[in-house]
Amino acid sequence: MTDHPRIPLAGVLGHPVAHSRSPALHGYWLRRYGLKGFYIPMDIAPLDLAEAVRMLPKLGFVGVNVTIPHKEAMLQIADIITDRAALIGAANTLIFRKDGKIHADNTDGMGFVANLRQNAPHWQPSAGPAAVLGAGGAARAVVAALIEVGVPEIRIANRTRPRADALRSDFGAKVVVQDWSQAGAMMEDCATVVNTTSLGMTGKSDLHLSYDALSPQALVTDIVYTPLQTQFLIEAAARGCTTVDGLGMLLHQAAPGFERWFGQRPEVDEATRQAVLSA
Ligand code: ATR
Repeated sequence: MTDHPRIPLAGVLGHPVAHSRSPALHGYWLRRYGLKGFYIPMDIAPLDLAEAVRMLPKLGFVGVNVTIPHKEAMLQIADIITDRAALIGAANTLIFRKDGKIHADNTDGMGFVANLRQNAPHWQPSAGPAAVLGAGGAARAVVAALIEVGVPEIRIANRTRPRADALRSDFGAKVVVQDWSQAGAMMEDCATVVNTTSLGMTGKSDLHLSYDALSPQALVTDIVYTPLQTQFLIEAAARGCTTVDGLGMLLHQAAPGFERWFGQRPEVDEATRQAVLSA
């Protein structure tokens, strides 16, 4: 009997999932490198998640991305969890191993750093404190990454203060919690300033901050990428800051999964950005 090799399948699990740019991104890379494979959006309700995930390897899936609202729940389902996924408390990339085990990783933090390194090569994370606005799931990945690259102090302000306090308990004394009312003032002397809230996204209100304390030396970045130029980035650029938009984080967090599933390290370049923007 001839053994027919299966075409590798991957995809993204979310609820909803129609807004996800990941199918356009992975589809572009598959075409660009002439690889066999498919990347499929899958809308799975939370109650069906565990059963659906266990089924996927049997259907030919080699792994999947995981997005809102499943990222935290995936840690209860996976068999092997990387240290960084455990620290962040969420997974965004699963690998279905040949031995049947589900391996869960989180590449959001490295995507965040890779985006800054690529688009602001002079950025020196250790040059001063970082200010992080927000304390949700994305903030956890950003804080873990900032600590890893040597930021000496991370000031966090969140509308709901207990979530920021939880980050301090989980990530330790480098984290300093500030009141949400101090979100503008805490940017003083910071080398890095990050918006991890959803404010500024199309359809939501903008961040209302005083930018008087923001130094022109700061690198300012936003995880929101619709629009690419948020009001937050526009205000920072007007004060002379280097700014980096959030699309690159999405592109870079996707690269490790693509490489593991399809065997090709994908390039994150202008053509990749344009492919996702025009999809
Ligand atoms: P994600 O996983 O994308 O970070 P999340 O966990 O829902 O999503 O976090 C969203 C972040 O945006 C939080 O920091 C949230 O603040 P709260 O913890 O107080 O909810 C912040 N955010 C959303 N809407 C906001 C608003 N209108 N004003 C201030 N912060 C807001």
